[in-house]
Amino acid sequence: MREHNEPIIQFQNVTKVFPGVKALEEVSFEVKKGEIHALLGENGAGKSTLLNILHGVYTEYEGSVRLKKNIAQFKSANDAIEQGISKVHQEVSIIPEITVGQNIVLGYEPKRGFLIDYKTLHEKANHILSRLNCNFKSEDMANTLSTGEMQMVAIAKAIYHKAEVISFDEPTASLSTKETKALFKIINELKNDGMTIIYVSHRLEEIFEICDRASILRDGKFVDSLSVSDITKEELIKKMVGRDVSSFAVRNKQGLVKDDEVVLEVENLTLSNVFENISFQLKKGEILGFSGLVGSKRTDVLRTVFGAEKKTSGSIKLNGKEVNIASPEKAVQLGIGLIPENRKTQGFVKYFDNANNIGLTKLEKFTKFGLLQHNKKTKNCEHYVNEINLRPVDPHYMTVNLSGGNQQKVVISKWLSSDAEVLILDEPTKGVDVGAKAEIYRVLEELLEKGKSIIIISSELPEVLGMSDRIIVMREGKKVKELDNKQLTEEDILQYAMGVNNHESKIG
Ligand SMILES: Nc1ncnc2c1ncn2[C@@H]1O[C@H](COP(=O)(O)OP(=O)(O)OP(=O)(O)O)[C@@H](O)[C@H]1O
Ligand SMILES: [Mg+2]
Repeated sequence: MREHNEPIIQFQNVTKVFPGVKALEEVSFEVKKGEIHALLGENGAGKSTLLNILHGVYTEYEGSVRLKKNIAQFKSANDAIEQGISKVHQEVSIIPEITVGQNIVLGYEPKRGFLIDYKTLHEKANHILSRLNCNFKSEDMANTLSTGEMQMVAIAKAIYHKAEVISFDEPTASLSTKETKALFKIINELKNDGMTIIYVSHRLEEIFEICDRASILRDGKFVDSLSVSDITKEELIKKMVGRDVSSFAVRNKQGLVKDDEVVLEVENLTLSNVFENISFQLKKGEILGFSGLVGSKRTDVLRTVFGAEKKTSGSIKLNGKEVNIASPEKAVQLGIGLIPENRKTQGFVKYFDNANNIGLTKLEKFTKFGLLQHNKKTKNCEHYVNEINLRPVDPHYMTVNLSGGNQQKVVISKWLSSDAEVLILDEPTKGVDVGAKAEIYRVLEELLEKGKSIIIISSELPEVLGMSDRIIVMREGKKVKELDNKQLTEEDILQYAMGVNNHESKIG
């Protein structure tokens, strides 16, 4: 047997129960040495829970995990790291106030006597950083790094600890296309050096691009392990979801736009040093897409429309009347809703259950003679729980205990159930699984039929192309192009977004 066919990790009948939920049930499969192994499943399938067990974060569970055939009973996350199991997760835990090098060696600093040996520390760290082709130094402060660079620091940390296995949990969710490419190059190099990679992502194209094999979980149970080259995207989705789902963003109904009814009109909106002279119209029944690379300031423009940033100049008209949106509260009063990209920190109340979080934007509706009618609120929640397939199906489950993707579904439902006329969604399906994506697209179409208007900011080109009636492309704080979404291709948008289009590059 060739060496890379040896199992390095074996999950054997792993079961993990949280109060009221069986997150994992008798999960058994193995990861072979030197492979890039995808861990797949819908939101709430149990992927992060299984990784947390592997990394010693959860120490209480049934069944066993074997590392190179021996039972691995990690007592803590550090214990796992010391035994060669490291992780690079989406919310990278970097301490901003110290240097890059200090972050890499944190807790395991080289010492001379009792003192930290900074010379050796930076030497070692710089050695690893240059191996990773990073263009920042161990001596740099961590707070100067971009998200992609912070991930490189997490990888450097794994290398410092001589990791044999590294897991990545949705690593590309906040990365630009360029950063994603760089990350994939590194992952392949780590593999060539004999490291084993476990890779979690909802972006299936990535699985086909870099993974060798995949294991699939559904509702906490193991479904299958297979070679990626032996399966199509559709077959993979079917195994994850248990039914046929279209993985594409497609509009079922066209022609809902009322051309003569402009709902929102933004003119020459400027936020000093961030973006300038942005003008656009949003029509009734329309989805307007905002495209552009990470850093093109799309989010800033719409946060300013929403009153979360104070505009320097420009005007905003709602249904033909100039309005002064001085704060998000004012925007909500006027019927504008914004679903932020960073839903975990901006999207829901930590101490509320699902029914309360989803009901947040229309509490007054559930109130009679000043008293909150709990059953009405629960009913409202149940409607959306079904519509977007929230798991577990429980209005009284605490949102904070849901899986990442399910938390996002709660935040989206909150706004879908509101009375907003204009909904702005920033990366609406980030971290959301394929099945739920299709469900969210359907809900958006329903809103259009009800005469609402929608703005989507999205880095996923198939999503902007598939869902929008018109697309605005931004680059470096400027609007470079407004496109009617007919016969557009992903390449067209990318050209404008990157400024490589001959004609447009003169404008930008
Ligand atoms: N700390 C916790 N307390 C209670 N329930 C939890 C906790 N962590 C996870 N769960 C539940 O366990 C199940 C599996 O969650 P997990 O986070 O592992 O899913 P996931 O596959 O990583 O999903 P996603 O793709 O959305 O990140 C979910 O039903 C979730 O609600
Ligand atoms: Mg997860």
